[in-house]
Amino acid sequence: MGTIEISNREFNTLSQLIYAESGINIHIGKMELLKSKIAKRMRTTKISSCHEYLNYLMNSKAEITEFIDTVTTNHSFFFRENTSIQKMIQALSIENKKQARIFKIWCAACSTGDEPYSVAVQMLEQELQFSILATDISHSVLNTAMRGVYSQERVRNVPIPILHKYFQKGIGQNIGYVKVRKEVTRNIDFKKFNLITDPIPDEKFDVVLCRNVMIYFDDTTTEKVVNRLYHALKVGGFFIIGQAESLMNLIHHYKSVKNTPSTFQK
Ligand SMILES: C[S@@+](CC[C@H](N)C(=O)[O-])C[C@H]1O[C@@H](n2cnc3c(N)ncnc32)[C@H](O)[C@@H]1O
Repeated sequence: MGTIEISNREFNTLSQLIYAESGINIHIGKMELLKSKIAKRMRTTKISSCHEYLNYLMNSKAEITEFIDTVTTNHSFFFRENTSIQKMIQALSIENKKQARIFKIWCAACSTGDEPYSVAVQMLEQELQFSILATDISHSVLNTAMRGVYSQERVRNVPIPILHKYFQKGIGQNIGYVKVRKEVTRNIDFKKFNLITDPIPDEKFDVVLCRNVMIYFDDTTTEKVVNRLYHALKVGGFFIIGQAESLMNLIHHYKSVKNTPSTFQK
């Protein structure tokens, strides 16, 4: 397979396709990255000409789904940016003391599951009842999430007592890996969901996490997404974003929460 050459026109068509399908903003500086993603799909589809592949892509809904899956950045790890999660769980514990209930949480770009499982083990530790909807646009990360098997590296931030309690250590061929225990996975529902194009669920959540995905969106898309997710929250519910993300300069109805990083309230 020769080197990939794409014209500016082809680049524009591709970046418009990615934007329309996922909200991901691929600018010209990401040309090499885009080429590597095309090359990956060409290898999988066994199409040796780039021109032929692009033609195939533009005419196949199934290939568009696979291509978008390849374009997404899925980096995640357990207990990532955990202060906002800790503070959110403290607030839920206080509410639970007033009136015990099942808290509904939505991890709206959950990637390989590290985030919803991190929330789940900390909810279990506080003896809080919960259900988690964990969604992502990428079916391949959802498969990994449902498998629940991770390298030791991915769980390096998990406090040791929690690691021993909620994860099973791999043996034999699985040395160096851990598996999330059934009691953690029990209340988590993994589903495919596109933040840009899928209708927001009718049910209302106590917490919506949408972290480290809006960094790939432009302001127009971010504003659209944060306002769509507003409708999924109960009044008083928490909206949690990533540390590198901000709602500054966007039109929205959230209130920020004092002394709590990256957290907003309806
Ligand atoms: C970098 S990961 C963040 C994972 C996790 N929230 C965290 O903070 O560690 C970003 C995830 O957003 C997902 N994503 C990108 N565009 C999306 C969209 N339009 N709808 C839903 N998920 C999307 C990607 O597939 C990827 O798994």
